[in-house]
Amino acid sequence: MSMFTYRDIIKEGDLIIVYLDVRHMYPITIKSDEVFQSKYGALKHNDCIGKKFGSVVSCTKGWVYVLFPTPELWTLTLPHRTQILYAADISLIVVQLDLKPGSVVCEAGTGSGSLSHALVRAILPSGFLYTFDFHEQRVEVVQNEFKAHGLSSYVKVEHRDVCSEGFGIDQVADAVFLDLPNPWDVIPFTVKTFKLTGGRICTFSPCIEQVQRTCLVLQEYGFLDIVTVECLQRVYDVKRITHTIISFDDIKVDDTSFNKSKEDDIDGMEEQQPSSKKNGSGQSAQKENETISHWTAIPPLQTPGHTGYLTYASFMSSCKS
Ligand SMILES: C[S@@+](CC[C@H](N)C(=O)[O-])C[C@H]1O[C@@H](n2cnc3c(N)ncnc32)[C@H](O)[C@@H]1O
Repeated sequence: MSMFTYRDIIKEGDLIIVYLDVRHMYPITIKSDEVFQSKYGALKHNDCIGKKFGSVVSCTKGWVYVLFPTPELWTLTLPHRTQILYAADISLIVVQLDLKPGSVVCEAGTGSGSLSHALVRAILPSGFLYTFDFHEQRVEVVQNEFKAHGLSSYVKVEHRDVCSEGFGIDQVADAVFLDLPNPWDVIPFTVKTFKLTGGRICTFSPCIEQVQRTCLVLQEYGFLDIVTVECLQRVYDVKRITHTIISFDDIKVDDTSFNKSKEDDIDGMEEQQPSSKKNGSGQSAQKENETISHWTAIPPLQTPGHTGYLTYASFMSSCKS
């Protein structure tokens, strides 16, 4: 199957995402007569065949949804061989690398292939992803996944140490992405990898010390517009709150604090201000006890969720030293 060509009906051999709830999702490949066990009991693969993606399918002790595998769902369910990138950082990477259909991207390291799936979707149908990792077993596993998900025509994964050997391809890339411990060692190689028209680079590093070293090397090699950002999600607490209406009726305006030239304006304002003297009917005391309630969004006091810093820069071929 191809993860990038949506199909309505589930067939034998398809990858599907079994959705129990937002915290429990599992990728399975449909095989006749096999059974998937979950907390809702046994799900027969045969019961999924012929059903529409998105349907509810019964298990022995409940039911599940059977979903089409998008890159986002793959990121949430893939078997981890490494730390991976998640949707929040991925979305920024795709936008800031200016990826579009036809873009050519070089990525290192491939890791578990979480980002790779999103990169391929962004550059389809005429772009290409070259992705590199120096861990041989990871390369083999991710290669099989790319093949099973129908990505093979858009991505080449290579076993290579990019810190010592670079990418080994010249003047091909519109964008370079680095998620490895020492991106500054790779930057000198990247200048040969960019197309003559230049392109965008992005590095992902968990520590600010890594960012500092990366920025210095980016500067040294003439990269422009170097910017580091951190993507944190702030979840607002939406609440209905009630508070007392504060009456300003008893507050006296001290005319002497205004300068003389404003006197005419102040006279005008005074006429509009309700004062406690003007409505001596006890109206202000009554207002003090009035309340008002409305919905409000309260931001979190702290914003946890640090994953890493994303450093972007632009490369123009005239930058080459
Ligand atoms: C954190 S993982 C990348 C995760 C990936 N971005 C994802 O979303 O799945 C880092 C990967 O970089 C690879 N790596 C580290 N140093 C490398 C190097 N010098 N050359 C190639 N790959 C390297 C590691 O083997 C590891 O698989």
